[in-house]
Amino acid sequence: MKIIPSPPRATWSRHWVFILACIGSAVGLGNIWRFPYITGLHGGGSFLVLYLAAVLFVGIPALLVELTAGKALRAEAVNAFRKMLRDKWWVSALPLALCLLILSYYLVIMGWTLFYAFFSLGGNHIPFSEAASGWALPLAGIACLALVELVSRMDIKDGLEKVNIYLFPIFFGSLVFILLHSLTLPGFSEAVSYLTTINMGEVTSPLNIINAITQAVFSLSVGMAVMLTYGSYLGKKADVFHSSLAIAVSDAAIAITGALVIFTISFTFSIPVSSGPQLAFESLPLAFLSLEYGEFLMPLFFILLLSAAITSAVSLSETLVDNLKIKTGSRRTASGAMLLLLLVFFIPSALSYSPLAADFTLNGIPFLEFMDAEIVGRLAPLVVVATIVSITWGWNGCRRELRKALPGFLVSPVYLMAKYIVPVAILTLQVLGFFS
Ligand code: TRP
Repeated sequence: MKIIPSPPRATWSRHWVFILACIGSAVGLGNIWRFPYITGLHGGGSFLVLYLAAVLFVGIPALLVELTAGKALRAEAVNAFRKMLRDKWWVSALPLALCLLILSYYLVIMGWTLFYAFFSLGGNHIPFSEAASGWALPLAGIACLALVELVSRMDIKDGLEKVNIYLFPIFFGSLVFILLHSLTLPGFSEAVSYLTTINMGEVTSPLNIINAITQAVFSLSVGMAVMLTYGSYLGKKADVFHSSLAIAVSDAAIAITGALVIFTISFTFSIPVSSGPQLAFESLPLAFLSLEYGEFLMPLFFILLLSAAITSAVSLSETLVDNLKIKTGSRRTASGAMLLLLLVFFIPSALSYSPLAADFTLNGIPFLEFMDAEIVGRLAPLVVVATIVSITWGWNGCRRELRKALPGFLVSPVYLMAKYIVPVAILTLQVLGFFS
């Protein structure tokens, strides 16, 4: 098939908009929905320690390397991989396929948040199982899909940038407000102690370590060509180092805040913290309602989740559309193509908890959970390895560009981490986790 030459690459209108967009991509359902439920399943404080170590030793080096490569190569992920790997450019299909899979169920959960944001406005609560039995949840998912489609058709200055600029204040304001409120609840101290109690047995479990790495890379949106794409819209003089630190610190801080809020409410109302993916949707809304100002706090919480989710979803769609556009020529047709591809996985995810699909499970779990835990949970670390190995081994400009981007004393540690230690560690853990 003919490859249409790419027009000149778009550039962020301001550097702070780039940082905001990266934070917007990183901070999402992963922080407020996934991090608390995974932490609740894997031992609270023990998991938090592993997660922070994973951010420091895996997430940050990967982010630095990916943004640096994006900025230097200044191309769509497929073409960036072509520059790095020549005929092995097909490796780029791995991160892009994962973006597609993540986005397909991310939109479904976004739909849940939209549904709850809307229906909780009047102080109503509809239990998740009841909501899931009707069409409202899948329809809300379709509304989210439509929104993402709309944004992805626009150039980054009109779509992506605006979405981030408008939504961040809403997100941040609601987060601060809800956090301040949860400080006054009786469960707060229990939440703090849950998140600071460490059990050595849990810290050394390979399965927990690999889960922490998955969570760190998922939460930072790293290793999946999204940061490569965002970096490719940077100008020559952009500072990748301080931006990466700002992104990683904000992301981790917001994940911890999210977990504190969720656990505070869980402990205040004796909701088991290990309830799994529905933790934020099943019992939490009910708990909100029994709080003072609950009819106000509950919609605020879901608006918070929704705004965080939108800025992440558009980063995934931007990456997909940017690459599809190499083949289709225009953004519009590319986003149409993305829609068709998304629907294949979106539909079974959207029907996961519906009585229509009660018998449709994989490995005994609903399709959406299967996608999140089995597909993304298992593949994300491997895809991160594929991406950073391509950059550090395949691209001979890597070390040179890192030297330009980082303070001198960090060049070798970051390079060696990304080139040898992270890939070997992830692969070893994956094997150990497989047998444990
Ligand atoms: N980081 C987002 C979150 O925490 C999700 C996300 C957006 C993502 N873009 C990504 C995850 C790219 C992996 C790869 O919710």
